[in-house]
Amino acid sequence: MRGFVGRKMTMVAALMATTGLAAGMAAAEDVEVLHWWTSGGEAAALNVLKDDLATKSIGWVDMPVAGGGGEAAMTALRARVTAGDSPTAVQMLGFDILDWAGEGALGDLTEVATAEGWDAVVPAALQGFSKFDGKWIAAPVNVHSTNWVWINKAALDAAGGKAPETWEELVAVLDAMKANGITPFAHGGQAWQDATVFDGVVLGMGTDFYKAAFIDLDPAALGGEQMAEAFNRLIKLSTYVDANFSGRDWNLASAMVINGEAGMQMMGDWAKGEFVKAGKVPGTDFVCIRFPGTQGAVTFNSDQFAMFNVEGDEAKAAQAAMASAIMNPVFQSAFNVVKGSAPARTDVPNDAFDDCGKKAMADLAEANTNGSLFGSMAHGHAAPAAVKNATYDVITAAFNGEYADGAAAAAALAEAVAAAQ
Ligand code: GAL
Repeated sequence: MRGFVGRKMTMVAALMATTGLAAGMAAAEDVEVLHWWTSGGEAAALNVLKDDLATKSIGWVDMPVAGGGGEAAMTALRARVTAGDSPTAVQMLGFDILDWAGEGALGDLTEVATAEGWDAVVPAALQGFSKFDGKWIAAPVNVHSTNWVWINKAALDAAGGKAPETWEELVAVLDAMKANGITPFAHGGQAWQDATVFDGVVLGMGTDFYKAAFIDLDPAALGGEQMAEAFNRLIKLSTYVDANFSGRDWNLASAMVINGEAGMQMMGDWAKGEFVKAGKVPGTDFVCIRFPGTQGAVTFNSDQFAMFNVEGDEAKAAQAAMASAIMNPVFQSAFNVVKGSAPARTDVPNDAFDDCGKKAMADLAEANTNGSLFGSMAHGHAAPAAVKNATYDVITAAFNGEYADGAAAAAALAEAVAAAQ
């Protein structure tokens, strides 16, 4: 036994001598990336990034933490930073980025951002989360949005063929799908998924209302009649899921729509990554629409790579090189075509995108011009984590029938948000 250990030690020592590395340590030019892109579509998009970095001789040390929406990833990150072992770059959303910047944990990308003119091409709504105290701290890779519905085309045809444009039409299509013997609404009962659906429901009550409730956190809007109606709608939607919805991962819900077992999924456009990965074509196999009643408005979430403090010139150079690669317009096109999102830069041509991707880009530009572009509450772009999590609790309880009615849920929401601030 001792002989074996001795031999192994010698081999490790030899390896260290040839590579200049301690065992298990990343090379200085490597970047260690913490992310939650583990579904088929997400992994395919991540590969576009890994491959791009490989062409620039930037090595990749993978730290995946499964779990849609990134809650588990953020818990893992906290443990790493507390242990004094921050990753190089972390997939991160909205207010979480600003929180980490406020703690002084993030590096500074301003030099590369200035040299490459990021200020001129990244929309202000995104820059609000990419910069802190005037410094660039994160590189935005995309713009997703949550107010989408993904419908199986054959199931829609069997349900009358017309994509719903209003709440009433949505309910009629769901009823028709139910009558046709399929699960109308493919859903995974996880708090962040319930909340993602609720983004669309609340936005469907009007853009002013979404802003008052979720951006301004106005107690009257959070606890009032419109919110009661929003919760009644969410409770209605909960009647269209199958018996096994609880805890299901979002990509498995997407698969139900892809294979025709279910009619539709209400989910952000990362769901399109799953359809594309499965070889499905918009307009032929599936239909993408804005959540009925939210046409012209967008609740966005932008994945950004927040850059943590790293030691040493080479590590800093690798980090800046990664950020530069992410912001390259050619890369932003290639990546987002696969991911299902729109580019984070306004100057990327839409030629390579499918119809849903072109719509995502056009909707984003329109919403931005019209003042109807809002941060997603479900994905950390409307309010900091404490408030977001408070909404999760009430939304999930409502979805699972724990309130007498929408009015009771709205009252609970106003109370929970007030307590979280
Ligand atoms: C979102 C993220 C997307 C997608 C989704 C499901 O929060 O912005 O990129 O990965 O979670 O995992």
